Amino acid sequence: MRTHFCGLVTEAELDSEVTLCGWVNRRRDHGGVIFIDLRDHEGLVQVVFDPDRPEIFRTAEQVRSEYVLRVTGKVRRRPEGTANPELRTGAIEVLGTELEVLNASRTPPFPLDDDDVGEETRLRYRYVDLRRPVMQERLRLRARVTRSLRRFLDEEGFLDIETPMLTKATPEGARDYLVPSRTHPGNFFALPQSPQLFKQLLMIGGLDRYYQITRCFRDEDLRADRQPEFTQLDIEMAFVDESDVMALNERLIRAMFRDVLGVELPDPFPRMSYAEAMARFGSDKPDLRIPLEFTDLTDLMREVDFKVFSGPANDPEGRIAALRLPGGGSLSRKEIDDYTQFVGRYGARGLAYIKVNSLAEGASGLQSPILKFLPEPVTKAILERTGAADGDLIFFGADKANVVNESLGALRVRLGHDRGLVEAGWRPLWVVDFPMFEWDPKETRFFALHHPFTAPAVADPEALRADPRSALSRAYDMVLNGTEVGGGSIRIHRPDMQRAAFELLGIGEAEAAEKFGFLLDALTQGAPPHGGIAFGLDRLVMLLAGAASIRDVMAFPKTQSAACPLTEAPATVSEAQVRELGLRIRKLDQ
Ligand code: AMO
Ligand code: AMP
Repeated sequence: MRTHFCGLVTEAELDSEVTLCGWVNRRRDHGGVIFIDLRDHEGLVQVVFDPDRPEIFRTAEQVRSEYVLRVTGKVRRRPEGTANPELRTGAIEVLGTELEVLNASRTPPFPLDDDDVGEETRLRYRYVDLRRPVMQERLRLRARVTRSLRRFLDEEGFLDIETPMLTKATPEGARDYLVPSRTHPGNFFALPQSPQLFKQLLMIGGLDRYYQITRCFRDEDLRADRQPEFTQLDIEMAFVDESDVMALNERLIRAMFRDVLGVELPDPFPRMSYAEAMARFGSDKPDLRIPLEFTDLTDLMREVDFKVFSGPANDPEGRIAALRLPGGGSLSRKEIDDYTQFVGRYGARGLAYIKVNSLAEGASGLQSPILKFLPEPVTKAILERTGAADGDLIFFGADKANVVNESLGALRVRLGHDRGLVEAGWRPLWVVDFPMFEWDPKETRFFALHHPFTAPAVADPEALRADPRSALSRAYDMVLNGTEVGGGSIRIHRPDMQRAAFELLGIGEAEAAEKFGFLLDALTQGAPPHGGIAFGLDRLVMLLAGAASIRDVMAFPKTQSAACPLTEAPATVSEAQVRELGLRIRKLDQ
């Protein structure tokens, strides 16, 4: 149908005849001449129709935005002074000699060059939204990323192996999406939250190195970087320890950045323990581009009269931390109030601060609502520890450690952006030495910080049982510019250790047998030591594309309420289908 792509016609085609297909990006009538910008996946080209050919001129007059055309014409240089250097095809135009309307189009639901269209509308008409060059570019980038990742892994001897979608729950901490079985009434498949157990079975099956770019399903609260169905690059290797897995995956990501962006990432990636990341940044995925750090003050505050500080200081789960903002003395009262409200969203009950106007003037050079509660030596120690200088502002968080970490950690990121402190470039990081378990005081039980199949740092089950609270795991997360892009671990490969882990997680023997009996069985059949990782592909592409949400790098994402405005899924089904599945729909109490 066509000889060239619209966006690729150049001066090389001068004086030759081309046939192009595409959409009408814009039509302009200019004193008897009609200009049509014809667009395809490669870009735009200007087509000119003059009244010398009255028949096609009349057709050209009738086309509207987003009509689908096939045009034949001769390539000529644009007249002096009308070239458009912004456009790849900007030096030429096509003088149309034939014009065929392949399809008409209703008025588009939104102008394609409008960047402020509501997301619901964009998703409802995704096929129109996808025609926008920015969306085309993002999906191309995504394909370049997967191509590069696949090539690397293929060359390293990894096998691309598919695992089931209709399966049994693999717990990754979210709710399952369930699929009722018609042939086993009353029974349900779960869609996989990840291929975790199957990839372990592949290692037990002797496949040695596996990868898969695969969909995972998690029914959880959605955010900008979370979707109910998302894509993982999932990897598993046999006979490896954590340094093998981390080294290979660093090479993989470095090669991908080189291929796709021409960027050299650091070699090796820095590593940081979970404890250090929480102490310095209040986060297990610190954005190292932001040059702000916590200073711990817990030990300083045990004796002070100020209850807001002495309370958490004497609580074993409490923490008091300071965050120094260089030059923050210029913050207005209103800005500080806004930040106080902001940390409130993370559970903080206030946001104490000290403005450092002049260190030389002592107490009168400081401005703060809490100064009156603090003995002078304590104030002095705060200034020393934080390294405060004139013009700085020091924020304080005092509460349970997790509240301080979350609230001041979020404030650190917010300040970094608000104050233009985010450094340019890419700052990858491995976070290691995670705790094995997290204690939930409400449910009074341990949760796995990673998943229940992660190996502990200790080698035997008795040592794990003896001190589960301080047990570390053999897990690692890859963090990039403050986003967790991947996570994995060395797995438990011995049945006795797996039983101990289940037991500590409150999964009794009967439950373990029912849910994971097949895994426990498999571990008795000569399971090799193994480990792996999974990357969130959507998150990686989002970062590379500089997009604000993973929805922008997915062709057909779901909304925040986990629905698809395009197909209107989820939807009700016929009574007959429900009956066939042995189900009955109950009205849910709202
Ligand atoms: P994990 O649960 O950490 O590990 O997931 C791996 C990576 O997947 C991405 N991710 C998501 N991306 C978009 N939307 C979501 N809802 C979502 N949830 C997770 C993140 C995350 O780092 N089986 C283990 C991996 C392993 O141990 O090998 C797992 O799934 O970028
Ligand atoms: P108050 O005595 O409640 O007026 O608090 C004095 C100052 O301490 C105010 O600036 C509060 O914002 C701040 N503040 C109160 N609770 C906390 C807290 N848990 N962490 C940090 N600052 C706090």
